[in-house]
Amino acid sequence: MGRAVSACKYTPRTAALIPAITLTAWLGDAQHALARVHVFSPAEARIEAHALASYALGQPRVWLVAHGDETLCAEWQQRLDAALARRLAGEPIAQIVGVREFYGRDFKVTAAVLIPRPETEHLLEAALTQWPAGARVALLDVGTGSGCVAISLALERPEAEVTALDISPDALAVAQENARALGAALRFVEGDLFAPLGGQRFAGIVSNPPYIAAADPHLAQGDLRFEPALALASGVEGLDTIRRLIAAAPDHLVSGGWLMLEHGYNQGTAVRALLTQRGFVQVETQHDLAGLDRLSLGRWA
Ligand SMILES: C[S@@+](CC[C@H](N)C(=O)[O-])C[C@H]1O[C@@H](n2cnc3c(N)ncnc32)[C@H](O)[C@@H]1O
Repeated sequence: MGRAVSACKYTPRTAALIPAITLTAWLGDAQHALARVHVFSPAEARIEAHALASYALGQPRVWLVAHGDETLCAEWQQRLDAALARRLAGEPIAQIVGVREFYGRDFKVTAAVLIPRPETEHLLEAALTQWPAGARVALLDVGTGSGCVAISLALERPEAEVTALDISPDALAVAQENARALGAALRFVEGDLFAPLGGQRFAGIVSNPPYIAAADPHLAQGDLRFEPALALASGVEGLDTIRRLIAAAPDHLVSGGWLMLEHGYNQGTAVRALLTQRGFVQVETQHDLAGLDRLSLGRWA
């Protein structure tokens, strides 16, 4: 939510410049514009219209309903129209409102980090299943971005020692801010994969690395256009970072430790093969809620 605006004072002078409409009418118009431009369903468009209005006016969504009959003053209308214009121009809603929910918590989002995706909750859940409450283990999140996985791990498993690593100092700054806001205690490290960790070993390494093929046309579409390239693309097949992670992870896992990697829906076979060739055992791929390959893991025996 943005800064709350002062009470709307509707004046006849404003009325001469901008046709007066109510908040409910603006929400209806915004919903139609969003549905048309982004080909959203009415439900998706309604959610986004309310999110934009909530942000622009600095008020919770329930407030929008209670004040729907109010006529918009010039200041309110300008704020609402400016937020809608950004969204219609393609900017991701999470970057406009500055926040995205992940595993029940709000994470700050800027253009420096990947917007947390619901499917990444599967990676977190796999780790939470592997290390139940009370587990006193060292865990590492490589490519932490907003910190959504590492911070959720630290909050769900407070006995674990969690390290969050990223090559991007700007992403790490956002992750550290999120950790402070959410009251999570964990360590942040900047660097290229395992380089800054020396000989440290972990019971578990989790990662949602960049895994999109460099020439994938999706990179030039939708929200991806606004997210950091470093978080998205990785070589011709999208597997460069995954290959490097799998090659080096055994030097940073304790015996019996697990490597858990999110990847693309069409990369399960390749990632399982890479894990097996490197000597991991109990290698398997898990599916997301859509039934697609999403996560592969293996144990370093
Ligand atoms: C797909 S994003 C994942 C962000 C976050 N973990 C999530 O799931 O929302 C990948 C992250 O890996 C980082 N990254 C890319 N290459 C890296 C490297 N060689 N070493 C460390 N981090 C890297 C990027 O900066 C980005 O934050």
